[in-house]
Amino acid sequence: MKLGILLSGRGSNFEAIARNVRTGKIGCEIGFVFSNRPNAPGLARARELGFPSGVIESAGRDRTEFDAQVADLLKQHGVDLVCLAGYMRLLSGGFISQFPRRILNIHPSLLPAFPGLDAQYQALMHGVKVTGCTVHFVDENLDAGPILLQATVPVLDEDTADTLSARILAEEHRIYPEAIAWVLNGNFRIEGRRVIRT
Ligand code: GAR
Repeated sequence: MKLGILLSGRGSNFEAIARNVRTGKIGCEIGFVFSNRPNAPGLARARELGFPSGVIESAGRDRTEFDAQVADLLKQHGVDLVCLAGYMRLLSGGFISQFPRRILNIHPSLLPAFPGLDAQYQALMHGVKVTGCTVHFVDENLDAGPILLQATVPVLDEDTADTLSARILAEEHRIYPEAIAWVLNGNFRIEGRRVIRT
């Protein structure tokens, strides 16, 4: 099985996945790392680590056409499971239909709370006492598909968006590899919105 990682920025989730692949905790290989931002640090890291990688600048591009190009690249590299790791773009229906129930995302809140940008800041400003992160299947709506795993963290009185983000990120690095391993071994079924272990 081959993973395709899509990222737009730092790439710490990509690195956490790569570590788990290297140590055998996820039984697959990383077939391709793609970025829509030429300067993404995560892309530079993928190159350093020697993974096949590619970049196409997305700014100003038609979404359907751009996504078709990305899907072609992933298929050319034999990607079975697509993992969004800080990929800051909504995917088109055309892309999603090429990888049915084969696209995962990690989001830094307990969905359905705080979808979209700056989820950690949204949580802080809302005054919640607990937040966390969510790994879910991707559908055409923003941060909305069936949920695989969630982890919680406390929100402390002295938190800033940065300290809260760091606490959530540690949990992201733990549950994303776990969810990927689970999807790869296929021991689940989906009933409506519920992902159930089998
Ligand atoms: C992570 O916190 C991830 O959950 C978030 O972007 C960050 C990427 O960090 N993703 C989203 O907000 C998607 N809606 P990373 O590049 O270090 O993995």
